Amino acid sequence: MADETDLLDAGERLGLEELRVLQLERLRASLRHAYAHVPFYRESFDKAGVRPEDCRSLADLAHFPFTTKADLRANYPYGMFAVPRERVRRLHASSGTTGLPTVVGYTDNDLSVWADMVARSIRAAGGRPGDVVHVAYGYGLFTGGLGAHYGAERLGCTVVPASGGMTSRQVRLIQDLGPGVIMVTPSYMLTLLDEFERQGVDPRSTSLRVGVFGAEPWTESMRREIEERFAIDAVDIYGLSEVIGPGVAQECLETKDGLHVWEDHFYPEVVDPLTGDVLPEGERGELVFTSLTKEAMPIVRYRTRDLTRLLPGTARVFRRMEKITGRSDDMVILRGVNLFPTQIEEIVLRTPGVAPHFQLRLTREGRMDALTVRAEARPGATPEVREAAARSIAAAAKDGIGVSVSVEIVEPESLERSVGKIRRIVDLRPR
Ligand code: DLL
Repeated sequence: MADETDLLDAGERLGLEELRVLQLERLRASLRHAYAHVPFYRESFDKAGVRPEDCRSLADLAHFPFTTKADLRANYPYGMFAVPRERVRRLHASSGTTGLPTVVGYTDNDLSVWADMVARSIRAAGGRPGDVVHVAYGYGLFTGGLGAHYGAERLGCTVVPASGGMTSRQVRLIQDLGPGVIMVTPSYMLTLLDEFERQGVDPRSTSLRVGVFGAEPWTESMRREIEERFAIDAVDIYGLSEVIGPGVAQECLETKDGLHVWEDHFYPEVVDPLTGDVLPEGERGELVFTSLTKEAMPIVRYRTRDLTRLLPGTARVFRRMEKITGRSDDMVILRGVNLFPTQIEEIVLRTPGVAPHFQLRLTREGRMDALTVRAEARPGATPEVREAAARSIAAAAKDGIGVSVSVEIVEPESLERSVGKIRRIVDLRPR
């Protein structure tokens, strides 16, 4: 059998010094491209008093201004493009639950790089040419479905473009078509689990070996739950439309120790979310990305709002980002204590008698915000077990996070199921 390292692509074989040289060269070209072709960047660089030529080392990037979601909205729909619209081969858009959606565009070359990065991701996850890959990320304006699709084709796999929804049919397809790999949000994987059980099919009996899960935060406890219930390996894939889509960073099967950032194309920084100062490797803060090779929509120092830290490479030369604990947008501040849904996920998943389905309801009592954790009982959980579970979740939130929450254990199958990205927080506070 071929040595695994034979499978690595040219970028993955670079030495650390070669990588840094390549990054600087690409970074300088990308800054020049943005400045020359996007009026927004010209203005923002001028305002900050920097020119692309001022970037002489990778550290100099810190002198360049940030780009935010608000900037993309202000330039809706085509204002951030650096090439004539005719050269843009495809558009995607973010959901835009609040306000305008954000439109992103790709040239032929951008689509090709994207497919390469997703192919690299699937391979790092343990997928191989010849595998059947079941893609249950949504197809459409969301980058998940088509991003995974072209990456799996690029790797040489047989793709099942299932998309999200029609859950009972998904179970049938997985049984009949023999996929080795599934690509789906972790929350929709749990919906599939319910459906396997409803149909009386053992979820451990399928041909699946590995799941490539992302598009939303998920915890180590969720990994154990999915791995155990499906008898597969579960690895993490990260990305965002503004940077390219899925395939910005990927966890390697052999180490499962965080996600290697494909930093030959996407340059990461972690900054203090309040001051914007670049933080040293190992410190937690907000992830910021600069594209190094994108043509249609170069992005400079984009504030992702995702919270993580950078760590040195292990299975690859590239730096890793720790599994994302949350987005600054999803942070709940309860009587001065910061809380992320993932912290509640950890607690719920280790509590006997409750299923891995939960929701956080935020209300206001007087001038105080209050949080109720709604978690589903496992089928057959007795009233005593449910009461003990409620007490234990409340105690763990108090001791582990330092917040008082109310807990309601609800009937099995009563919480809304995910078909894509799950919404954990239901905000019922008056506006
Ligand atoms: O969710 C792209 C994607 C599709 C990634 C499929 C992975 C798999 P957007 O809709 O633009 O793009 O949302 C991006 O989703 O800023 C994170 O907050 C969150 N996110 C994505 N992947 C992960 C992950 C896609 N592995 C936003 N862990 C990002 C935690 C993630 N959060």
